[in-house]
Amino acid sequence: MAWDGPDMLGAVAWHDRPDHVEIDRVMVHPSAHRRGVGTALLKRVVEANEGRDLVVDTGRDNPPGLAMYAKQGFVAEGDIEAAPGLWLTRLRRPAGN
Ligand SMILES: CC(C)(COP(=O)(O)OP(=O)(O)OC[C@H]1O[C@@H](n2cnc3c(N)ncnc32)[C@H](O)[C@@H]1OP(=O)(O)O)[C@@H](O)C(=O)NCCC(=O)NCCS
Repeated sequence: MAWDGPDMLGAVAWHDRPDHVEIDRVMVHPSAHRRGVGTALLKRVVEANEGRDLVVDTGRDNPPGLAMYAKQGFVAEGDIEAAPGLWLTRLRRPAGN
């Protein structure tokens, strides 16, 4: 989690899979957007999981998320329709990237 005193600015959650680490979500409070909080949270995940592939699904139509992950070395692997009309893009950051 990221804090500004008592105020939580954002959070990230991840869990282990046999062959990669899955990022469940990264979220930043709208009042703190575009100040590097999301990037800092992602870097924390990278540091905590050195040597492992990181994988995340995010909205195919979510430019902020897609841009943030791309800047941290994630590469799109393809799109999946998680529910009718709900498209997600799967991205991977290979170990050692
Ligand atoms: C996606 C999200 C986590 C980004 O958090 P953030 O703290 O604002 O991101 P950062 O300040 O670290 O920005 C990193 C890069 O992401 C991209 N980005 C972030 N917000 C953007 C926006 N509104 N439009 C376009 N690109 C954006 C930019 O490339 C940015 O780098 P720059 O500011 O140097 O141009 C935040 O918008 C959010 O919580 N969105 C709702 C939840 C979500 O979509 N989570 C991701 C899917 S799991």
